[in-house]
Amino acid sequence: MLKRSLITGFIALLLALPAQAEMRGDPEEGRIIAYTCTGCHGIPFHKNVYPTYSVPRIGGQSYGYIVSSLKAYRSGERRHPTMEAQANTLSEQDIHDVAAYFVTLTEEQQ
Ligand code: HEC
Repeated sequence: MLKRSLITGFIALLLALPAQAEMRGDPEEGRIIAYTCTGCHGIPFHKNVYPTYSVPRIGGQSYGYIVSSLKAYRSGERRHPTMEAQANTLSEQDIHDVAAYFVTLTEEQQ
């Protein structure tokens, strides 16, 4: 009986691991990283300082979308020279932090 509950416990632990591995960024760290981004994405993020090209609005987009877009630029799956260069400077943790920051802005500004 004891052996069986140990096995059940072990399986439960394995099932719990992926949930724990899911990262959630720190918006305070993200605020510092986002300083670079705001040069182009602007404040409140739907205006851009370079009228010659359009920059998508980041505020209002979901955490998951921001993370996956940045990873796609970083891996070269999504091609855009400027954003590839930006994303290449970011670590996995930075991407999550910056996404957490943009999400808090959305909540405050809408
Ligand atoms: C030099 C200007 C510039 C800087 C700096 C910049 N971006 Fe961008 N960003 C762009 C442009 C232009 C696009 C649109 C690219 C495209 O069409 O794929 C974009 C696209 C994006 C997208 C995808 C949005 C969408 O709607 O699909 C995200 C997310 C993003 N940027 C986040 C960031 C973050 C985070 C930073 C700071 C680390 C940053 N950007 C810095 C110019 C910039």
